[in-house]
Amino acid sequence: MQLEILGNTESVSKKGNVLILKTKEAEARVWVYSQTIIRISISKEHGADTSFAVIQKPSKKLDYTESAEEIVVTTSALKLKITKSPLRFGFYTSDGKILSEDDARFGVNWQGARVINYRKLYPDEKFIGLGEKTGNLNRRGSSYVNWNTDAALHDVNTDPLYKTFPFFIGLHSGLTYGLFFDNTHKSYFDFGATTDDTMSWFGADGGDMNYYFFGAQSVAQIIEDYTWLTGRMEMPPLWSLGYQQCRWSYASAAEVLDIAENFRKDKIPADVIYCDIDYMDGYKIFTWNKETFPDPKGMIDKLKAMNFHLVTIVDPGIKIEPGYKQYDEGVANNYFATYPNGEKFTGSVWPGRCHFPDFFDDDVRKWWGAAFTALTEPGVEGFWNDMNEPAAWGQDIPWLVTFGDHYMPEIRNAYGMQMARATYEGARKILGNKRPFVLTRAAYAGTQRYSSVWTGDNSAYDAHMLLGQRMVNSLGITGMSFTGVDIGGFTGDPTPELMVRWNSLGLYTPMFRNHAMLGTKMREPWCWGKENEAIIKKDIEQRYRLLPYIYSSYYQSHQTGMPLSRTLAINYTQDERVFDVKYQNQFLFGDAILVAPVESTRFTEDVYLPHGEWYRLSTGEKFEGVKVITADAPLTDLPVFIKAGAIIPMQNVIQSTNEKGDGILEINVWYGREANRFVYYEDDGSSYDYQKGVYYKREISFYPVKRQIELSMVEGSFTSKYDRIKLVLHGFRAAIKRLKVNGKTSISAHNALTFANGNRVIIVTF
Ligand code: GLC
Repeated sequence: MQLEILGNTESVSKKGNVLILKTKEAEARVWVYSQTIIRISISKEHGADTSFAVIQKPSKKLDYTESAEEIVVTTSALKLKITKSPLRFGFYTSDGKILSEDDARFGVNWQGARVINYRKLYPDEKFIGLGEKTGNLNRRGSSYVNWNTDAALHDVNTDPLYKTFPFFIGLHSGLTYGLFFDNTHKSYFDFGATTDDTMSWFGADGGDMNYYFFGAQSVAQIIEDYTWLTGRMEMPPLWSLGYQQCRWSYASAAEVLDIAENFRKDKIPADVIYCDIDYMDGYKIFTWNKETFPDPKGMIDKLKAMNFHLVTIVDPGIKIEPGYKQYDEGVANNYFATYPNGEKFTGSVWPGRCHFPDFFDDDVRKWWGAAFTALTEPGVEGFWNDMNEPAAWGQDIPWLVTFGDHYMPEIRNAYGMQMARATYEGARKILGNKRPFVLTRAAYAGTQRYSSVWTGDNSAYDAHMLLGQRMVNSLGITGMSFTGVDIGGFTGDPTPELMVRWNSLGLYTPMFRNHAMLGTKMREPWCWGKENEAIIKKDIEQRYRLLPYIYSSYYQSHQTGMPLSRTLAINYTQDERVFDVKYQNQFLFGDAILVAPVESTRFTEDVYLPHGEWYRLSTGEKFEGVKVITADAPLTDLPVFIKAGAIIPMQNVIQSTNEKGDGILEINVWYGREANRFVYYEDDGSSYDYQKGVYYKREISFYPVKRQIELSMVEGSFTSKYDRIKLVLHGFRAAIKRLKVNGKTSISAHNALTFANGNRVIIVTF
């Protein structure tokens, strides 16, 4: 094996917007993407410049100065100092503070085909990110592999898992930076785990040392920049934010209907029910089992009449069976992955022996996408993509297998993403103006443009519940806002306490889905005894109460990339305690709700409240921040805190998002010393008309010093489904006097005012 270290610069040139530096070993290219993003790609042989993740083009401008020893590329926010001999890269803030730099000795090097970048590790440096990974919030001292894997039965330490997000954020000396290594080969990240704390490193088994460096000075801004580069989610269908009930599998249409009816009978709100693999005929994708699901349309019509939406699973493996449409067409058109000699690759999954579509090919994606009519015609609106690492029993898929021009190991990590893309694009076409819901297990950076994700086959124990929350929070750092876990745990049977606890955390999970494995105890809310059912129901109702806030928070993700579930490291980056393993699972759900996950066996919990003042949601009790408190945590009351000054729109309970409700939008404001604002957003929840201005958006502001609450004029042409606004004030006490709402004084409780835009405002004081 040849070991080569990037050596001295032999030539420097600029071609258009790219700076090119050549050494004996390789060529480095540098582009500026924005004032805070610089890209470097170092390669022995630059090929076509393509990316699955990146959707932006570099800026046309690149300013630099050159001396005998170094080159300095400058933007308004960043300085990239390039040392010529040997060729090394160091990033600085515009005022000269070092953010991150190559290890001076080893920088970029090749160990055979493997390309590695060793970087200097700072004594206080922490790392967050990489999306769905086990381990702690602070990844310092850990190492990870990205190699999308069907990680069935994974535990709280398993690596690799299902997804690849080669993006991390480094924190040291009060500074922040991000680094996205856009390489789909098997990749490695070592945050000082194996280098005696002298270096961190990352690299891949092949491809280029191609990375984007982010220099913005806040974690939130880095996430905004990363999602500018790789794209943001569309507005999700509103129904997909309601409660989702899944199981492997509801075995027949009768059972599906029975489950749906039970929700309505027990008045437990729900929007979504799933069909796992058993709805198919012999697990053949795009078919229905004629015996157990004889009339899919009839079943879905009945579900629709009960305000349920159906999601069905699809796996990539196409059963080898002459006469089966997808098999025949795939073979006739050469749509399947092959060995180098052209022979089709065969692997075994649920249907038995299968071939695997080459989702990297445009025609294959179109073909796959068009086949969804088999599901959409009877009325399916959500498409669950599973087993797309891709999984095949007992094997990693031979590395010889090719997808078009690529061998499997080069692009395996993007396979699931391309399947989700094909699904999304197909469903988009078929459903016209209606938003599809797509859920995928495997993913690569940028998947947020096509799909939501869940964390795969977790287990029914407390540590897995906590891990799931960390993963959801971590996925949020890497652009994935619409995420979930199998609530209750996929494998094993949760205790009733765990089920209740997990559900109460689940309501604060971006995607709220209960799912369980074949053979496990039934998981539906009524399977846990009357008392527990009542708690579960109340928590699901709370989800529905919060939907106006949740939907507005999704609008924020759509606009800025800010995730729904936010590790406290986003807002309180410089507060050491948020990285403490005792508090690392805590998160903000949207701007204002702090949630402390608690194991099902504990009924009090130490909670760290960061800077500010906080109100316990259930009691109204107020706490000063920067303190650890011991919170009561009975199963009926997960510790949830509201940030002082918070503005949270809610609604009264409805049974599904299809229901119009009572027309009252309840705007809750918690008194705080600092001014605050919230962007309230609403649209029809189902179409793409919002992209043409058909939405309802207004800013709600609270100014404690001026004692004012302001609702801005409405932007957009959508008519809100709420015709009254009820303002609910929490913790105002004396401050309630002389409070003005849009310039008018609130005189007393239950006071009704009418505003220009037609909204009646009822002031209710607490
Ligand atoms: C995989 C999925 C799981 C699903 C099962 C059967 O294990 O991760 O969610 O229920 O396959 O389709």
